Amino acid sequence: MNQLEWDLVVKNGTIVSNADLYKGSVYIKDGKIVAITSEPLMGETKKVIDASGQYVFSGFIDTHIHSRDPGATHKEDFYYSTKAAAAGGVTTVFEMPNTNPPINHASNYYSQVDHLKSKAWVDFGVWGISLGPVNLHELQGLHEAGVIGFKFFWGYAIHAKSYQLMYHYEDNMEEVIPPLNDGEVFDIFSEVSKTGNILAIHAENHDIIQQFTKKAKQSAGRSYEDFLNSRPNLAEELTIQTGIAMAKKTGARLHILHVSTAEGVALIRQAQKEGYHITAETCPHYLFLTNEDYERIGTSMKVYPLVKRKKDQDALWEGIKDRTLSLVCSDHAPHTEEEKEGDLWSIPAGMCGVETLVPLMLDAVNKGKIELVDLAFLLSESPAKLFGIDKQKGSIQVGKDADLTIVDKDLEYTLKRSDLHSKSKVTAFDGFHLKGKPTATIVRGNIVMLHGEILEKPIGQHVCPFNEGE
Ligand code: DOR
Ligand code: ZN
Repeated sequence: MNQLEWDLVVKNGTIVSNADLYKGSVYIKDGKIVAITSEPLMGETKKVIDASGQYVFSGFIDTHIHSRDPGATHKEDFYYSTKAAAAGGVTTVFEMPNTNPPINHASNYYSQVDHLKSKAWVDFGVWGISLGPVNLHELQGLHEAGVIGFKFFWGYAIHAKSYQLMYHYEDNMEEVIPPLNDGEVFDIFSEVSKTGNILAIHAENHDIIQQFTKKAKQSAGRSYEDFLNSRPNLAEELTIQTGIAMAKKTGARLHILHVSTAEGVALIRQAQKEGYHITAETCPHYLFLTNEDYERIGTSMKVYPLVKRKKDQDALWEGIKDRTLSLVCSDHAPHTEEEKEGDLWSIPAGMCGVETLVPLMLDAVNKGKIELVDLAFLLSESPAKLFGIDKQKGSIQVGKDADLTIVDKDLEYTLKRSDLHSKSKVTAFDGFHLKGKPTATIVRGNIVMLHGEILEKPIGQHVCPFNEGE
């Protein structure tokens, strides 16, 4: 018999699946997991990581990042965002399609995959964008090309020539396609349902926000509270409600992005009880922050949808516990320092998140909010299954990609913005004292991060749903 040989062995860790924990070693060859054992195997290995006293997860997946590449690379680019992902224990990211050019047809998708490939420190999928009538006939092509899903920014206007999203739309702007009406949105649901792929919506009702903002601007108040009143929970509630109704009619696989309200959680829970394929996510900023933090943290915590109130935060944790919300992602959406300074009402929404996602969720484990197995579910198993990459990723099994995140659950430290690897360092979590940290990020057997050091070079590969990747 030939002598057994491995490229890497992760020895003596506690392996965490979505159901249980067990002690074991993971043997890796040619980028794949080839054995998982509790007793050591005889043979040669090139590298060993001793994971004694640490937990070994299937690599964490961040399904929602905006690297703004190409289009706004002064804020972020894919080299930086994926380096930040590696540093933060994330082995796969899904890049959002509101780039310039946007990923609105198959040929843009192919160029985007090519463009991102050389910069990727971790594996990546690419979302397609649905813009309404202007690219309805492109959705099937995008699906066949391999998009992770379709993103629809419900309630946003788009520029008529560049198809860029208008973040500060006002009625009567020129060369702008105003937000779609419900009839046009229904057509999107119908077309996407024909592809069988996911339709993921940004759920904020434009009319409600316009109307309430008008009223809020007439009053003198400019506080976070006034701002919250200008974008009330009702905006999310109405859009989720309409989205669910359209999904019921069309059979579209609806996914609600970054849920921020108690009302949203209740609606999704009800639809799931009725047996509909509605899924939803939330993000650490909604789980860790409330309106009460604004005074201390300031404008870095401005995101859309806005961070809401304590009762919303409690409902989101309940939604995580009963798995109404089946995944947590970062919505990494960096802007520059300068852009985030200024008036709360006019600065752009979004902050960094890909590097702080796993640390914050580990802290949640230590605070007793969730269990280690929930983390394996929320950040690995569930996203891999939902987005159809579970043949290769999402659990520690022989034959799957050797994507692993090793964590020290007991490590205590203070999160510092200056330690972040993204281009922009804008985070609401600067100075947070956390317990639990990823110590190694392994992508298909390549150790891309070890004890905070970034190793290797960008080795990330493209992944698509429903196939073996490239
Ligand atoms: O705060 C946000 N920023 N929310 C979004 O949905 C978009 C994102 C961005 O791209 O800046
Ligand atoms: Zn987003």
